[in-house]
Amino acid sequence: MTDSLTIRDNRTGEEHEIEIVDGTIRAADLKKVGGLATYDPGFVNTASCRSAITYIDGEQGILEYRGYPIEQLAEQSSFLEVCYLLLNGELPTSDQLAQWTHDVTHHTFLHENIKSLMTGFRYDAHPMGMTMSSISALSTFYPHASNISDPENRYLQITRMIAKMPTIGAFAYRHSQGKPYIYPDNGLSYCANFLSMLFKMSERDYVADERLVKALEVLFILHADHEQNCSANAVRSVGSSQVDPYSAVAAGVGALYGPLHGGANEAVLKMLRRIGTTDNIPGFIEGVKEGKEKLMGFGHRVYKNYDPRAKIIKKATEDVFEVTGVNPLLKIAQELEKIALEDEYFVSRKLYPNVDFYSGLIYEALQFPPEMFTVLFAIGRTPGWLAQWQELVTDKEQKIARPKQIYTGERQREFVPIDQR
Ligand code: ACO
Repeated sequence: MTDSLTIRDNRTGEEHEIEIVDGTIRAADLKKVGGLATYDPGFVNTASCRSAITYIDGEQGILEYRGYPIEQLAEQSSFLEVCYLLLNGELPTSDQLAQWTHDVTHHTFLHENIKSLMTGFRYDAHPMGMTMSSISALSTFYPHASNISDPENRYLQITRMIAKMPTIGAFAYRHSQGKPYIYPDNGLSYCANFLSMLFKMSERDYVADERLVKALEVLFILHADHEQNCSANAVRSVGSSQVDPYSAVAAGVGALYGPLHGGANEAVLKMLRRIGTTDNIPGFIEGVKEGKEKLMGFGHRVYKNYDPRAKIIKKATEDVFEVTGVNPLLKIAQELEKIALEDEYFVSRKLYPNVDFYSGLIYEALQFPPEMFTVLFAIGRTPGWLAQWQELVTDKEQKIARPKQIYTGERQREFVPIDQR
């Protein structure tokens, strides 16, 4: 063995040599050390797969999709081009991009029964719950999706999901507004069509401001993948049972719904509103330091530096506010960031703004209610989930996800009849 680790088991005095590959040891190799296993709640130091999709260096604040820096993709690429890149590993040629755009554009419509299903939700249903249910319902409309070993079939389902996510998200939004659902306009680009389905009223054609279309493209690109995050892990975990991709992605949507993951931007806005004025910031910060609450939009499991996506979003906020006017909460956010970045509590814990600190402000400026923020995140993240899923199902090393546990409960008790308890 070239790189190896020698473990001396002090229980027995035995020594064991374990191979090190790519800076990791195989947890299964520890079994030979007296049946040893690792205990790692939240997988903070456990690699679950080999992946060639997204690279992050959290210390340096680097994010790359298939080797391309996020800054270059956000500036020069389109969302559909990034989807292609994530799914195929290479940037498309113009012919490939034209074909891919055509394929996605021609799958934007939903079966009318999916629409009926969505109309069945209560008037105040959370759009994220509606999105999750509708994605999972798609598996019943496309039963052949369960044939996950056929690459052509996988391509069809992947195309469908990327195409239909904005339609589902827009219908969920219109539902919450009590407005009629607007069908896709396939003459428009991916993001322009999404804005049309969201905001069109009685006009013949809805024409979105190009700067807002561009801002949405950037936001979707920034959210497109983030390696083994909570929702990607959920997609992989559920997908490892070899279920169809709609069911696996629905699990990802569920994971993203939570306030510690995709729900954080909604929480940031609520927090900024609660703070109300810059005068209240010092008191709020004191409360955070005393552990009474969290500074939402700060901190990240991987980034121990400024989240590179937060930098790009901060810039996009300025572009959006040029069109929509400045959101007064921006001042509070900026001041909060300034104070937090100088404060010993945040500095020593390497807590920096993450992608969600500013994204909510843009979404609000685009007139989205907070409940819609995570849906926007989910639309952007769909290609990442699907790229992760595809990598999983074509990876021969993968097995059904099934962690171990350390059992802490009772053993071998005698059943007590109910009248004797
Ligand atoms: N505000 C105040 N303190 C914080 C924050 C925060 N936002 N985040 C972490 N800390 C503190 C913790 O209390 C802990 O302090 P301690 O060492 O004194 O106990 C220390 O920093 C380390 O934090 P952990 O919770 O161990 O970090 P972890 O990697 O488990 O959590 C997480 C990461 C969940 C993102 C966390 O930073 C957090 O809750 N942030 C706020 C929610 C948020 O913005 N989530 C969006 C993440 S980005 C995304 O999902 C797209």
